[in-house]
Amino acid sequence: MDRTIPTNVIKRARELREAIELHNYRYYVLDAPTLPDAEYDRLFRELQELEANYPRLIVPESPTQRVGSVPLSGFSQVTHRTPMLSLNNAFEDEEVIAFDRRIREPLGVSDVEYAVEPKFDGVAISLTYQTGLLVQGATRGDGHTGEDVSANLRTIKAVPLRLQADSPPARLEVRGEVLMLKRDFEQLNRAQERKGEKLFVNPRNAAAGSLRQLDPRITATRHLTFLAYALEGVEGLDLPQTHSAMMDYLVTQKFPVCVERKVVRGVQGLLKYYRSISAKRDSLPYHIDGVVYKVNDLRRQEQMGFVARAPRFAVAHKFPAQEAVTEVLDIDVQVGRTGAITPVARLRPVFVGGVTVTNATLHNEDEVRRKDIRIGDSVIVRRAGDVIPEVVSAVLDRRPAETREFTMSKSCPICGSTIIRLPGEAVARCSGGLYCPAQRKQALLHFASRRAMDIQGLGEKLVDQLVDKGLVKTSADLYLLDQPTLAGLERIAELSASHLVQAIETGKKTTLARFIYALGIPNVGEATAKELAHFFGGLDRLMQAHEQTLHYVPDIGSEVARSIVQFFAERHNREVIVQLRSAGVRWEEDQREKDKQTTLARFLDWLAIPGIGPSTAERLADTSGGLERLMQADAQALRQELDLSPNAAKSVAGYFSNPQNRNVIEQLLDLGVTFTKSAESADKASPVRGKTFVLTGTLPNLTREEAKGKIEAMGGKVAGSVSGKTDYVVAGAEAGSKLVQAQDLGIPILDEEGFKKLMGENTQ
Ligand code: IVH
Repeated sequence: MDRTIPTNVIKRARELREAIELHNYRYYVLDAPTLPDAEYDRLFRELQELEANYPRLIVPESPTQRVGSVPLSGFSQVTHRTPMLSLNNAFEDEEVIAFDRRIREPLGVSDVEYAVEPKFDGVAISLTYQTGLLVQGATRGDGHTGEDVSANLRTIKAVPLRLQADSPPARLEVRGEVLMLKRDFEQLNRAQERKGEKLFVNPRNAAAGSLRQLDPRITATRHLTFLAYALEGVEGLDLPQTHSAMMDYLVTQKFPVCVERKVVRGVQGLLKYYRSISAKRDSLPYHIDGVVYKVNDLRRQEQMGFVARAPRFAVAHKFPAQEAVTEVLDIDVQVGRTGAITPVARLRPVFVGGVTVTNATLHNEDEVRRKDIRIGDSVIVRRAGDVIPEVVSAVLDRRPAETREFTMSKSCPICGSTIIRLPGEAVARCSGGLYCPAQRKQALLHFASRRAMDIQGLGEKLVDQLVDKGLVKTSADLYLLDQPTLAGLERIAELSASHLVQAIETGKKTTLARFIYALGIPNVGEATAKELAHFFGGLDRLMQAHEQTLHYVPDIGSEVARSIVQFFAERHNREVIVQLRSAGVRWEEDQREKDKQTTLARFLDWLAIPGIGPSTAERLADTSGGLERLMQADAQALRQELDLSPNAAKSVAGYFSNPQNRNVIEQLLDLGVTFTKSAESADKASPVRGKTFVLTGTLPNLTREEAKGKIEAMGGKVAGSVSGKTDYVVAGAEAGSKLVQAQDLGIPILDEEGFKKLMGENTQ
């Protein structure tokens, strides 16, 4: 049926397409969703309905067309107009120095400007746009001919279906990498496991497998994403002069472009970038296997040309190999600081990721079974960044006839205490506590570690001797050590004994946060320790805190709260703390956060009194005349004066008459929780605390480090990229794509003066 489409329907369909694609952009490119899922679904269904009624409304760039409906019988071949090349690799600094020299010398310049980016470990893709519309997506294939995977690429919501310009260029190709984020990969494998299907080895294989599905509906379920790194075959558009400006252009066209990209100068700039990305590697949401350096000036790029199948103007500086194959000589167990028993594979030494690995963790008993790793197997060992090497899988076609399975022993190999594995827990534990020398050693090493009490020189070998000889049982005993005792130990020289005594002595002065962390309370890491120090401002207040009081501390959940209460309830732990203090361990008390303003309504809601939801809490706050009166009122008064239902009145009166609840409230008031009249002024209490800032460009009078320092000193955070979690963007001269993204998201943008004002500084 070919009905004329009413103009208002045409208009509505366009509005819907734009709203849905804008949401896709915010969600999948900026990681900053602004529409609730239900609302998104509603818009999507409305568009589907309009298109069903008026099929001529369907245009290829409609978001409803992201999922093709028919499985293909195969992929057709695509010849790339410009070949998709590969990159030459460099592994050592010397190779990078040589690369820079090859660039620099013919140009006769002393340092070259480079655009630098991570090297994404995914699947290379080329997207062709004609007159602004995505017309084709292809894999790299052999570089000249790839496969047409357009239908699958359309399902990736981070891939724009059209360009933003009103008069778009006749043609262009965006090259980049299809990736699966680490978290999506883990989720996919968990789902595969539940369904009893094959697990993917790594995110790259998962991405490649998902792109090669003949049924795009399967690809659509796979959570793929995309990062652009080049622009090719451009017709009808004046290209900018640099690679970095080209990437900025792609940002304006709503392509996902990596936020870690930079422009640096000279070989020093390259190597510094390599090190900074290496350090960040594990915290990135996707896998990378190195960084890529490209001459920034596009004209120079062109002049330099190509050798064989790689450009002369770029190089990939790869990270050392992270996986290797070796043999499992034995499997035994290690006892951790909290008694956790970890099976460890003893390996034939193998060089992985720049170091020789002889042990690798197998995590827990179930993992050994699931991966079916046996003594005698050849295995793949992986080392990622600083983390402990792990056994990934057994190489089954190399399994010898004779292998031995691992069995978990019933008692601790160190102290002989029973090993207990609680139902529902993956981890088995030695029940010996600090009686177990292994746990004691680990606890001491943790106590002395750099981020805890920072006792330099107290390493594993020394701790082993101190514990084995019975010289040290608890951390407090460390402070009783004298130089003659230490000098009498093996492998310690006179000089280092006196250094150690000195280090122990100077280490006595610390901060509350470090001390809390050093105690080794299960589940309390460095960040939690800092929160606790900030919130309580004193150890005694923390030691007396009720479990419920601890819940009030930002980011502390019930498991952590319970763990803290249990720790301080243990007499032995309290005794050690007394001894540590009398040995002279000290810190500045009371840097307690003053700012704990909230509204009474929010507080009442937080108390979670049965039957009292946010709106009743609001009413109680408005009418009760304050917390004190509320705590004293009986059920009858609550019913009559505050107009509560009989049940609610009973619940409130019951809650406040319970001494335990009263104690928690008293503790919180003691700790400085106060109430303001309006929610607005509670939020105003500190405009910076808990807020996330992104810095971009150069400020006239402040360096980035100074600005960062100011923000952190006032309890704010600085993030590297703009997202929905960003509260402010501070922008200076030459701010780039971060500024564009902030404008897109409607995030407040501050210049230096605005920033100083927000920080409460006088800007006159
Ligand atoms: S530029 C002319 N930049 O690495 C060469 N490639 O070994 C164009 N890759 O197949 C490539 N991240 O898929 C470039 N930031 C990045 C990259 C990158 C990953 C891949 C690319 C290519 C392979 C080359």
